[in-house]
Amino acid sequence: MSVTTSRHPRPAAQPGSGSPKVTVQTIQDKKLARVPIACLTAYDYPTARLVDESGIDLILVGDSLAMVVLGYDSTLPVTMDEMLHHTRAVRRAVHRAMVVADMPFGSYHASIPEAVTNAARFLKEAGAEAVKIEGGASRVELVTALTAAEIPVLGHIGLTPQSLHKMGGYKVQGKTVAAFDRIIADARALQDAGCFAIVLEGIPSALAAAITEQLSIPTIGIGAGPDCDGQILVFHDLVNLTFSPAAKFVRRYADAATLFRNAITHYCEDIVNHTFPSEAESYHLPKDIAIQLETRSKEKLSLAASGPRPAARKKA
Ligand code: KIV
Repeated sequence: MSVTTSRHPRPAAQPGSGSPKVTVQTIQDKKLARVPIACLTAYDYPTARLVDESGIDLILVGDSLAMVVLGYDSTLPVTMDEMLHHTRAVRRAVHRAMVVADMPFGSYHASIPEAVTNAARFLKEAGAEAVKIEGGASRVELVTALTAAEIPVLGHIGLTPQSLHKMGGYKVQGKTVAAFDRIIADARALQDAGCFAIVLEGIPSALAAAITEQLSIPTIGIGAGPDCDGQILVFHDLVNLTFSPAAKFVRRYADAATLFRNAITHYCEDIVNHTFPSEAESYHLPKDIAIQLETRSKEKLSLAASGPRPAARKKA
């Protein structure tokens, strides 16, 4: 670490700094009060800190980490250790928002005891306040076990990226009458099992509106239209750091790729043109030391200039 990168304390006044810690109860109260719930993903200290300081309610350390940070083609390869590592970084940054960790593919599928053990690790070892799992009615037993173990659960139905191969691609779900009814039944089952809220991903707005109206717990939409109780996006989508065209439901609020590219290009140019670092960006010796060193090198120079003394001639 360089001497210039020690962590700076938070500024005294910032949006959200005065407002109380967001909890499960806060998220649920917002539905009752019809106040939209603002959620976003984050995966590291600086972005999580910016997201928290901006007043977001819920930060998800999503398994989208696999794709947007680690460069995998899908969310499937990300491991428990990787998710824990990033959740810890986010936890260190976040003071106000609720931090939810996504359970990675395979970490909750083999058995309920193993799933509870893995979920507990997110709370014990990484400071998460809840976990998210994908799936509907088939997860009822698991949600019941997790909530019985005091682990709040955020459900996730509709387009569930961990079911990529089962779905045959990332396809909008719930577009037939049977699928519409099945997803409503999934939402109800998760609510009854104890989820504190449910993410609705990649479904028609009308379906999300029907679920939101029928449930007493909040719905958080992503590609699910405007009628959900809250919205979530992937941070890298929001700021254009994904190197791929945005999905229909993404709104780009900034162009970080262009911002970073320009900064890096200028940095390279400045090095090549000898304009970085400048005098002001360099460290300097104390004046008295500089004078001592200069005097010493002058003395050495004059000694060298006077040359070695000629050796005394030996008599023949
Ligand atoms: O992994 C993720 O980022 C998610 C959100 C998009 C809901 O699951």
